Order: sequence, then structure tokens, then C-alpha cells
Amino acid sequence: MKDFAGKIAFITGGASGAGFGQAQIFSEAGMKVVIADVRQDHLDEAMAYFKQKGAPAHAIKLDVTNREQYAAAADEVEKVFGETPDLLVLTAGVNVFGPAEASTYDDYDWVVGVCFGGVVNGLVTFVPRMIKKGKGGHIASTVSWGAFGAGPMTAPYSAAKAGVLNLLESYFVALKPYGIGVTALCPANIRSKIYEAAIQGRPEQFKNTGYNVTEDTQKLLASIHANGMDPRVLADWLKKGVENEQFLVAPYPSGPRMVQLALERFADYASPEGMKRLEEKAKQPPTEEEVKMMSEREGYDVTARPLGSSGPSIDVGFGKAKKDLDWVDSSKKFNK
Ligand code: NAI
Repeated sequence: MKDFAGKIAFITGGASGAGFGQAQIFSEAGMKVVIADVRQDHLDEAMAYFKQKGAPAHAIKLDVTNREQYAAAADEVEKVFGETPDLLVLTAGVNVFGPAEASTYDDYDWVVGVCFGGVVNGLVTFVPRMIKKGKGGHIASTVSWGAFGAGPMTAPYSAAKAGVLNLLESYFVALKPYGIGVTALCPANIRSKIYEAAIQGRPEQFKNTGYNVTEDTQKLLASIHANGMDPRVLADWLKKGVENEQFLVAPYPSGPRMVQLALERFADYASPEGMKRLEEKAKQPPTEEEVKMMSEREGYDVTARPLGSSGPSIDVGFGKAKKDLDWVDSSKKFNK
């Protein structure tokens, strides 16, 4: 999709962080934007911005895990703007971190439900409507670098994001004949308030977490995200990706190389020699190239403050199991 003016964009999670940046950039490209978000306070703030700009925008309160609400939202767009969206951007997401082995069903049901289920619901709701409209279009999702780099503290989140990346590739191939492009945006650290969701945004029915989640862990995350990429800069990367019909956007100068190295890691998992190579590599300090790429992803020079070395995370208990899970104990690990 190269021409945006006069077309309609529907953006989930569009009232805050990455999604709000996308709403701004596509609005400035001349689109009518629909921001769909579960938080009314976020919607009110975002709509005040568009009202002040005099730009056409419409807010819909939508929980992306609710399929009835999703269908009603799609009907509402057609009623308000006369047709179904040309650009669908599936950005709504939540995260919470802790040891994989401490994860509860609620941790999985909440995070995978929003991050993966919400994307499935968006695709099933809108793809038939976009095909029936017959004017092509584009579908994008804000995935995550986590889709390529699972970690011991991010199991539900990384699994959901890896699932989304795989899912989008299916749609990329399936929708090409209809003139509908698909883009997976895979950023690492974004300047946003995503950490708020672990307390304020977590529904009551999924409240049983295995992780230590406190106001202090949120504050620590806030300090990490303060270094993250400006959502407007990220949205510019996405816009270019959409214009170029690019399937994958790793929004960094070294993005393609980062993807190549991630895939090389997978290739190494697939042979005994490769496994040995990975074991040896784990004992070495990161190379200069890796340090440069980590700094790009985190948004600051990691040589000045190496990743994982920060004292506050130990004091705060970030990424730890909640206290009563006393069996999550490093003294019980065979290879510490
Ligand atoms: P954010 O919290 O600032 O924005 C997310 C928006 O989604 C919020 O307005 C929130 O109310 C909304 N939302 C949450 N659950 C929802 C639901 N069930 N239904 C509808 N809306 C819902 O967070 P941010 O950072 O802008 O996140 C946007 C996307 O970017 C997410 O998918 C996240 O996983 C992804 N991402 C974020 C990174 C970061 O460092 N913050 C890094 C990589 C990817």
C-alpha cells in the first residue's frame, strides 16, 4: 500500500504507546483513524489529541479478546466511515515477566489471550470484510523481537509473539492474491507504559500469577522503557514497511543482520556440532557487533550499563517467582 490519503486505518491498542504513535503517523499521512482500545482513559487522551489537530478519528472501546465486541467494532467502522478499513494494525498487547517454571495457567491465559488470541480475533473479524470490499489493503501487527529471542523470564509473552509471527506469514502468503499485504513489526524496547498492564490492566479472572509483580517491579520496568524507541519513530519504520510491502520489519539499522543471527542460532540447535558451538559461545563475552545490536534494541549504550548486571533488579525481585513459590530455587538447579 503506497497511498494512504482518504483511506481508513483500524488500530488496536491505538490509544497508547506504539499504537498511538501509529495512529498519529497514519493520520498525518491523510488516513481516517479508528483507535480501538480496552482503556477508556487512554481513548479519551488520544481523542483529545486528534480533536485538537482537527484530524478525522474515531474511538471504539474494544477488548480484543472479546469476539462479539470485535464484530460490533467492525460494524461500527462501516457505519461511521462508510466502509471497512483498508489498513488493519493489530498492536494491542500486554506483558508480565517471571521464571518460565513459575508460570501459571492465568499467566498464559491472560498474556497469550491478548497477544495471540487478540490478533486471531482481528484477522478472523476483518479479513473476510477486506476481501469482500475488493480494494486490497494491508494488515500489520506489532509483534516483538521476543518472537526471535525467547528468554527464561518471558515464556508466555515470547511464545505468543512467535505464534503471531508464524500466523502472519500464513496470511502473508494467503492474502497476496487478494492484493492485501501483511507486515510483522518486531521491535525490542519501546518507550511506552506497557508495564502498567501487569497490575492495572490484568482482569480479575486471570489474577493468579506465579511472578513477583509489585509497584517496585513496575517502576524498574518504567525506567527500562524510558530508554525505548519513540513510538512515532517506530511507526515511521512500519509505514515504510507497509509502503514496501515488506513482510518483516526489524526496526533498526542492523535489523536484517539481527534476524540472520537469530536464524543461525536456530540452525545451530539442529545439530550436535551446533549445540556445542552454542555452549562455547555462551561462555564468551558478546562480540562488538552483538553489543552494538543490543544497544540498538535497548535504546542505550549497553557497555555503559551492561544488560542483566543492574543491581536494582536484584533488590526489587524483577523477573523472580512470587514469594510463596519456594520450589523455584536456584540451589535446586543442576547447572547454575
Ligand atoms: P501500551 O500499554 O503503551 O499500549 C498498549 C495498548 O493496548 C494500551 O492502550 C492498552 O490499553 C491496550 N490493550 C491492552 N490490552 C488490551 C485488550 N485486551 N484489548 C484492547 N486493547 C488492549 O504498550 P506498548 O508498549 O505500546 O505495546 C504495544 C504493542 O507493542 C504490544 O503488542 C507489545 O507487546 C508490543 N511490544 C512492546 C514493546 C515494549 O518495549 N513496550 C516491545 C516489543 C513489542
